Amino acid sequence: MSVLKAQGLTKVYGSKGKMLYRALNDIHLDIQKGEFVGVMGPSGSGKTTLLNILATIDKPTSGKVEIGGVDPTVLNDKKLALFRRRELGFIFQDFNLLDTLSIQENIILPLVLDNTNIKEMEKRLQQSAELLGISGILDKRTYEVSGGQKQRAAIARAMIHQPAILLADELTGNLDSKAAKDVMDSLRDLNEQMGATIMMVTHDPFAASYCKRIVFIKDGAFFSEIRRGTNRQAFFQQILDSLSVLGGNFDELSTVRN
Ligand SMILES: Nc1ncnc2c1ncn2[C@@H]1O[C@H](COP(=O)(O)OP(=O)(O)O)[C@@H](O)[C@H]1O
Ligand SMILES: [Mg+2]
Repeated sequence: MSVLKAQGLTKVYGSKGKMLYRALNDIHLDIQKGEFVGVMGPSGSGKTTLLNILATIDKPTSGKVEIGGVDPTVLNDKKLALFRRRELGFIFQDFNLLDTLSIQENIILPLVLDNTNIKEMEKRLQQSAELLGISGILDKRTYEVSGGQKQRAAIARAMIHQPAILLADELTGNLDSKAAKDVMDSLRDLNEQMGATIMMVTHDPFAASYCKRIVFIKDGAFFSEIRRGTNRQAFFQQILDSLSVLGGNFDELSTVRN
């Protein structure tokens, strides 16, 4: 079953009198339920533009997006806000947790906004906290926990309302290698044990090696695609090889680790 379908996505930036810039060019993407897809490409290749369009934050110049069978571009602002809140889960590089709330309050926020009953909230909170290994820090404030714990709390918040798809942008970008590993292990568990559908944009070959499929883009266009076998180590090497074929500038790339 297809969860996300993008057809012929093109994004042109620029206005009257200025040069037009084609940031995305005819991108096709089909993500099935339960998939774990990575998008990689050099700086400026259009990754963030693509993610923002899929996240319904930005609109394509041409082409079409369908998420759970719905074309978000036809929704009015109010319906779009609701659609985003119910069908999408976001994970950001800088966590985006609210510092005035406890970890637990941050995690249940999407359910509170949706008037979920307390019992159901409690059940889902315990479930996701356990899966993500953060049961022990639920009463803490954001400044009392580590970066890796913050990101795992952010993942719990992104999935607690059981969205159709989780969208992550450089989620290991602010983490050291140990924390990045913990976060990626958690994301893998979420994908494998809960069947969560995930798409993430990353520069980091280590993080990408957890994906089951990677789509490489260059100059806004599809370049190549690889799928993982059983061995993550071998996939990591395959990713490095693909990146070297891709060329371009990767200086945002954090230290290569495995
Ligand atoms: N709002 C904008 N206006 C004009 N050009 C933009 C805008 N956003 C991005 N771009 C350009 O589009 C290209 C792709 O950007 P982006 O999607 O951020 O790439 P990436 O995330 O892969 O580094 C870049 O050349 C960037 O300068
Ligand atoms: Mg970017």
